[in-house]
Amino acid sequence: MKKTTLDYILKVRVPVTLFIVVLAFTLTYYISRPERDSIGYAPEQPIPFSHKLHAGEMLIDCQYCHSTVTNSRFATVPAVGVCMNCHSVARKNKEDIIKLTQHYEQNKALTWKRVHSVPDFAYFNHSVHVNKGIDCAECHGRIKDMEVVQQVSSFTMGSCLNCHRNAHDKLPQLKNINEGPENCFACHR
Ligand code: HEC
Ligand code: HEC
Ligand code: HEC
Ligand code: HEC
Ligand code: HEC
Repeated sequence: MKKTTLDYILKVRVPVTLFIVVLAFTLTYYISRPERDSIGYAPEQPIPFSHKLHAGEMLIDCQYCHSTVTNSRFATVPAVGVCMNCHSVARKNKEDIIKLTQHYEQNKALTWKRVHSVPDFAYFNHSVHVNKGIDCAECHGRIKDMEVVQQVSSFTMGSCLNCHRNAHDKLPQLKNINEGPENCFACHR
């Protein structure tokens, strides 16, 4: 190989190739990120229940249905009986409500698909966050406006810590909020 060709390869080809490889990795990393973080996940549910209608327009309180948020780790999804408080009368003759009523009468739960989740090895507790005044929307976005529930923010370790480290800046409306814990054992018990 002539010296000039080798020079060309080392000075131009190698850096250019490296640059393209790094660029490709970086782009793929950021473009595929929402998918890896589950952002945008909005599974179809067994009954098309609308938060926009029930929580947004009819202004039913979140806790009427997610009644355990202030006293337990889990928010839980309401049993069919809660729906029947209204739907034994409201819209009784509609297809979806007939299906709802059948489940109720046969004592069969609806298999709602889970939208948000953190892995079992990480510990998250709703009551701690909710009782400190942190609004559902800080983590779940504007559910009130959603026809179908969709995940809008990621629940990776980085995103938990991002709020824990900067709780004062993230939650300026809560004047006396403490920083959240950063030690591993708080979330990995
Ligand atoms: C506080 C009363 C109330 C509760 C509780 C309630 N709903 Fe409703 N729901 C209504 C009313 C009223 C409407 C009709 C609103 C309208 O169309 O203006 C409605 C509409 C609906 C519809 C649309 C029906 C159609 O085809 O028009 C579905 C589906 C539905 N509800 C499912 C549910 C489910 C599932 C639950 C329980 C998780 C539930 N609702 C709990 C009052 C309630
Ligand atoms: C009338 C009952 C009712 C009310 C009121 C209600 N929800 Fe729901 N919620 C449900 C049902 C049923 C599901 C499961 C089906 C679905 O995902 O749409 C659900 C699902 C959710 C989920 C997704 C759960 C998962 O699997 O990750 C979130 C988050 C949520 N609700 C937040 C809220 C917030 C915030 C409010 C108040 C603004 C609210 N809900 C008001 C009944 C209700
Ligand atoms: C600090 C962030 C945060 C706040 C505030 C928050 N959630 Fe959640 N929510 C989560 C996380 C994280 C999960 C997944 C939990 C898991 O997998 O155990 C979740 C899951 C849920 C679920 C699915 C069932 C469950 O318990 O896992 C529902 C329903 C829900 N949230 C409703 C609400 C409602 C209603 C509020 C407001 C009263 C609220 N959340 C406030 C972070 C939050
Ligand atoms: C929007 C901000 C915010 C987000 C997002 C958030 N946290 Fe927190 N968290 C807090 C604050 C503030 C506290 C401290 C509350 C206090 O003690 O005053 C806290 C406290 C905690 C605690 C200590 C209390 C307990 O339950 O033992 C744990 C554990 C925790 N968070 C886990 C998580 C996990 C896991 C996630 C992510 C899935 C998460 N948090 C997301 C704000 C947040
Ligand atoms: C505020 C809560 C919180 C704290 C504090 C925390 N973690 Fe995590 N960690 C999580 C959550 C939530 C996940 C699951 C993330 C996911 O699914 O992307 C996780 C995942 C992990 C994983 C699995 C690999 C991964 O990234 O998914 C490891 C390893 C880990 N944590 C180690 C640690 C160590 C070591 C510390 C202490 C320096 C620590 N964590 C502190 C919440 C926390």
